[in-house]
Amino acid sequence: MTPANLSPTTDLEASWDALTAEELRRRGSLKWTLEPGVIGAWVAEMDLGTAPAVTAVLEQAVRDCAFGYTSPTLTQTLCESTARYQREVHGWQVEVEQVSALPDVLSALRAVIARHTPAGSAVIVPTPAYMPFLTIPGELDRELVQVPALRTSEGAAAGWALDLDGIEAAMAAGAGLLVLCHPWNPVGRVLTHEELDAVAVLSTRYGVSVFSDEIHGPLVLDPALSHTPYACRPGTDPDLTFTATAASKGWNIPGLKCAQLIASGAARRSWESSALSRNLSHEGAGVGAMATVAAYDEGREWIEAVRRYVHATAGEVERVLTTAGVGFTRPQGTYLSWLDLSGTPAADGPARFLRERARVSVNDGAAFGRGFESFVRLNLAAPRPLALETASRIARALA
Ligand SMILES: Cc1ncc(COP(=O)(O)O)c(C=O)c1O
Repeated sequence: MTPANLSPTTDLEASWDALTAEELRRRGSLKWTLEPGVIGAWVAEMDLGTAPAVTAVLEQAVRDCAFGYTSPTLTQTLCESTARYQREVHGWQVEVEQVSALPDVLSALRAVIARHTPAGSAVIVPTPAYMPFLTIPGELDRELVQVPALRTSEGAAAGWALDLDGIEAAMAAGAGLLVLCHPWNPVGRVLTHEELDAVAVLSTRYGVSVFSDEIHGPLVLDPALSHTPYACRPGTDPDLTFTATAASKGWNIPGLKCAQLIASGAARRSWESSALSRNLSHEGAGVGAMATVAAYDEGREWIEAVRRYVHATAGEVERVLTTAGVGFTRPQGTYLSWLDLSGTPAADGPARFLRERARVSVNDGAAFGRGFESFVRLNLAAPRPLALETASRIARALA
């Protein structure tokens, strides 16, 4: 099935290339089963399995029937592994005491909005944004301030960049929190040091907290770039910084319910002072913690292979889509891409158009913020032949 010009360089890549749509449907993921008969390229799950070290620890857990409540020892091991991973891979000097276990990243966002920002204050979300960022503030009776990204064509921020003036205006107007997504789902940007530093200056100037969602941090695709946690930039105020991360995107284990919050200074004290926030530590799954430790400690080579594979896939998909006139920016990080389908005659949204005409399931841009109705999000973490088939179907549908 592998096209002649794409030679698999490793057994792992060959095994990914060989996966078929039928096999992926049989495995029963959300991505492949919600809409029968179409190629699933929407929700942020990968088709590429997980690291052998993660599989091994889960197999052992099954043999041991290790399905009980999470022990303090396991939680401590998880926090140590998280701190070690951040230190060794991202150069961030995290102390174990600064890490809390969580069931998932969104529970931390909910807690930070509800209990660690001034009552009634607005929440700033740069758009396009991961959809729950746009709905959670309203669920908690907070105003949402959308700040659309600036379209850029040059430099390290090529594609989409934070509108720092827009963010500053919202902070000056009294917002209580900025939600950063770094790397940025859905536009695939890895924020530059300059952007992170500018956010830190604004956060300090206006006393506004930053929730940095770094769940896609392990998934920087561009080999010329690396992930720099927002909190480790020198200008960041620890008192105003909450970082959330997880192995769930990188190692493809979101169903195992395990994430981590990293905070120090007043942000940590505030977190610990709220029983509801503190108690999130007990809500994650033990098997998720075991899998996460295996991923962080022993899954680094595997994720390196994932990054190379998805980066190369993105390059091939880019060639097909740009030839067809689709606006495609190759993601620097995440395995998600943001397609500009302006001009497509799609009264009910481009996702429906592609579902009907291309038999491909993607996410509609409208869900990611105001003004993005002509975009779709396409998931590239697929077997490369299937990703190319997806791109070709989209190209044919638009022809
Ligand atoms: C940026 C981002 N944050 C959070 C999540 C969800 O994470 P969790 O399941 O840990 O809440 C996702 C899932 O796609 C995501 O892309």
